[in-house]
Amino acid sequence: MKRRIGILTSGGDCPGLNACIRGVARASYSQFDAEIIGIQDGYAGLINGDYKEMKESDFSGILTLGGTILGTRRTPFRNMRVIGEDQVDKVKEMKKNYKKMKLDCLITLGGNGTHKTANLLSEEGLNVIGLPKTIDNDIWGTDVTFGFHTAVDIATDVIDRIHTTAASHGRCMVIEIMGNKAGWLTLYSGIAGGADVILLPEIPYDPSIVAKAIERRAENGKDFSIIAVAEGAMTINEAKMKKKERAAFRAETNFSGIANRLAAELQNMVGVEARAVVPGHVQRGGTPSAYDRMLSTVFGVHAARLIKEERYGQAVAMIGNTVGHNPLSEIAGKTKFVPENAQAVLAARKMGISLGD
Ligand code: F6P
Repeated sequence: MKRRIGILTSGGDCPGLNACIRGVARASYSQFDAEIIGIQDGYAGLINGDYKEMKESDFSGILTLGGTILGTRRTPFRNMRVIGEDQVDKVKEMKKNYKKMKLDCLITLGGNGTHKTANLLSEEGLNVIGLPKTIDNDIWGTDVTFGFHTAVDIATDVIDRIHTTAASHGRCMVIEIMGNKAGWLTLYSGIAGGADVILLPEIPYDPSIVAKAIERRAENGKDFSIIAVAEGAMTINEAKMKKKERAAFRAETNFSGIANRLAAELQNMVGVEARAVVPGHVQRGGTPSAYDRMLSTVFGVHAARLIKEERYGQAVAMIGNTVGHNPLSEIAGKTKFVPENAQAVLAARKMGISLGD
């Protein structure tokens, strides 16, 4: 049995992509006659015909490597069917290049946007398997995505380091954690780092409630506070606005990031010395944690099994502690937000951590 496999990484990178590519490759080479084509820079490479035949040795020594050996780009799903100034019909080109490469299937490593395009290609008749990567952990149908736990470790380390300087100076430190739509990373690292306040996109906050939480700490003899705020967090007032309205409001008020704004507000309201810290893409860089190496590998191995069994149109997932898969058509376009009754949310509340609401 011979299979020609195209593989690409798309969207924001994260630790574990190479470990996953390696998992797919090694499990394929060892189980059937596999030929692997590496497609450069995600869907952009599939559209432009930028790809190369890989050798078995190309997948050696990459388990611990951060980023992606294939490169990645953001090629938004919303533009896939839009023909722009370049007159390129992207879907047509992707199908043409799939045929040109003589692929039996296409493996896409990515987040929500990547899965939407994977589903589109599957509907167009291509054999596609999706693998769930993102530090945001917001892919529907999987308990966990690879990259998430490494990012939790990094963000927690940032909070730990900020903790000591906050305590020395008696300051309020506002740490902005990645996650524009979903707050998993902020919630987990906030709890792991012992944050006093955790603000998530899913739970709009009231700045005066955050201020009160800090004042309460001061009354209890704690002159410093740690606030973990998701980059996509918003106030209760902002949550009432439509997306465009909110963007306009923020532009008018010279918004320069949620942590900066909140630190300035708290300084004014409480009179505490406040600082904002934005670790940004540090959270996506470097070597994957042991857990993510393992997770990426078993996900990759599962994808190889699906290839062997010719079960396409699927997205690999962790379902109740077992590696499995969901139909792409069922999960594409859905986001796994933090539910208000998530165990970690309830635990945070029971611990007296303020969620700003
Ligand atoms: O999706 C992962 C993520 O890191 C989000 O947490 C963040 O909002 C976004 O990507 C940042 O995107 P970019 O790397 O394009 O700036």
